[in-house]
Amino acid sequence: MNAQVSPLVSFQQVSKRFAVSDGDVEALRDFNLDIREGEFVAIVGASGCGKSTLLRLLIGLDTDYQGRILIDGEAVNGIGSERGIVFQEHRLFPWLTVAENIDLGLVNEGLDREQRQRRVSNFIALVGLEDCARAYPHQLSGGMAQRVAIARGLVASPRILLLDEPFGALDALTRQQMQDELLAIRARARITTLLVTHDVEEAIFLADRVVVLEPRPGRIKRVVEIDLPHPRQRGSLGFHRLRETLLHELTHDDRYLPPAVARISDLPLTYLAC
Ligand SMILES: Nc1ncnc2c1ncn2[C@@H]1O[C@H](COP(=O)(O)OP(=O)(O)O)[C@@H](O)[C@H]1O
Ligand SMILES: [Mg+2]
Repeated sequence: MNAQVSPLVSFQQVSKRFAVSDGDVEALRDFNLDIREGEFVAIVGASGCGKSTLLRLLIGLDTDYQGRILIDGEAVNGIGSERGIVFQEHRLFPWLTVAENIDLGLVNEGLDREQRQRRVSNFIALVGLEDCARAYPHQLSGGMAQRVAIARGLVASPRILLLDEPFGALDALTRQQMQDELLAIRARARITTLLVTHDVEEAIFLADRVVVLEPRPGRIKRVVEIDLPHPRQRGSLGFHRLRETLLHELTHDDRYLPPAVARISDLPLTYLAC
């Protein structure tokens, strides 16, 4: 008999509306997704299709929704230290040092001063910032500040890491370095990860499964398994095929094709001449 492994995270028929001045925005409709312990799931979709809303519901920042969100079979009820989150902007406090910012992730853990210091030092080392423990955020590069934010998200040893476009503000090279680093951290601490990203390549490079959301109302269009072995090669044929598949899902929706996606050959010659 096959033992059925129950999911760590389960979204069941989750729908969310926001009341706005001219009616309701249906941010999510009938969202269903199970995430296994240790799995890495990426969510891709155009702006406004409900990605951040989904993370806010899972982190427990917003409890006003329909459906059920379960962690280990228990309904999510407010924020909890088994879930860590990292946002696109690092959201560090400018008047606190790197170490003090990371320490904030431990405020609810009931640890004594020495335990906290030890934990903070471990996580500073994990993200390779040993030389910057006493630096302030304005003294850091964008990539370094984002590493601090990741350390803060991980310092309470959450079982689930939520990442909302965490590398979106970084240059291409730093972004790739951070992606490698995230995989290295995951290899050490097999943490269940839910990543929201605009970047299809980032999703294929990192995730076990990619969920494509479509907007208005936000709902699942397709789920694609990424069965490429690690380390993944961005130039490989398999990678290329998955990129084509995902881009096809994302762009074959006239409701949100931006004009910038028009092919140059479709533009009138007068447009090109000006
Ligand atoms: N607090 C809010 N009040 C009203 N509308 C909101 C609020 N938060 C999000 N929305 C709307 O819900 C939809 C989904 O938003 P969001 O989850 O932020 O999308 P994404 O992260 O995919 O860009 C959008 O149409 C957005 O305008
Ligand atoms: Mg968002």
